[in-house]
Amino acid sequence: MKIDEYPEADNDEQITTANDYNRWLAQNTFGARWVRFWFAPKQTLFLNTPARKLPGLLALTTECKVLDIGCGYGGLLIYLNRRVGFTQVMEGLDCSVLMVKRAQREMQKRGLDSRIHIRQGLATSLPYPDGCFDVVLSTYVIKHLSDQRSREMLAEVMRVLKPGGRFCLWEAAPSRNFYLQVFNLKLLKMGVSTAYLRTEGQLRECLESAGFTDLEPYGHGPYYYYPPLPRVGFIARRPLE
Ligand SMILES: C[S@@+](CC[C@H](N)C(=O)[O-])C[C@H]1O[C@@H](n2cnc3c(N)ncnc32)[C@H](O)[C@@H]1O
Repeated sequence: MKIDEYPEADNDEQITTANDYNRWLAQNTFGARWVRFWFAPKQTLFLNTPARKLPGLLALTTECKVLDIGCGYGGLLIYLNRRVGFTQVMEGLDCSVLMVKRAQREMQKRGLDSRIHIRQGLATSLPYPDGCFDVVLSTYVIKHLSDQRSREMLAEVMRVLKPGGRFCLWEAAPSRNFYLQVFNLKLLKMGVSTAYLRTEGQLRECLESAGFTDLEPYGHGPYYYYPPLPRVGFIARRPLE
């Protein structure tokens, strides 16, 4: 798949998002450097504070096979690998070719390239066989997907999870304060065209209609970085067959 060669005008919002992130990684403006700073693995726990509790909460063992969809620089994979020391190769997927290159460089720098594989692809068409993951993660990605594309993504997550496997996601949520909502949306849309913010009820409905069960709200906060932005998240299970 050569997403990077898709023209900007391509109709699929996922391609637009990939191009948006490519731009952030290519530019040399103050804003782009600011974004790159926060994406770096060192800052993972600032943006993804709930990750600290995931190894215990998901009872992650060294044998677990883990996928991170929209992995960015791969910070979450690096962090969880350090905490758990997986024997299975971890997988990271991202739609932006420059993000993928950057994540691959981060793995090489740390000698993790044989332990953590990063590849380019779309959340709605995962390049993995059925039922091969114990855990799928996706943080700050689903806001880039319309309801239709979200349904496609969740169907794919369900397909690649083992029966009984778990999906954990968190995302920015709408604020009840009008002024904060306007400001947060402006902030989020500064560099990316798509920001479909969903409430906990809406996200729950998406997950339940995709067939996930045992939904536990998780990842609401507090977050070290930019706490005024509300977050919403769940840990959900693919039912046992
Ligand atoms: C806000 S960043 C979050 C990165 C990382 N998950 C984190 O929490 O630090 C969103 C990432 O998802 C990727 N992404 C957005 N839409 C995607 C899609 N449809 N398929 C795959 N990756 C996607 C973007 O390229 C970007 O790297």
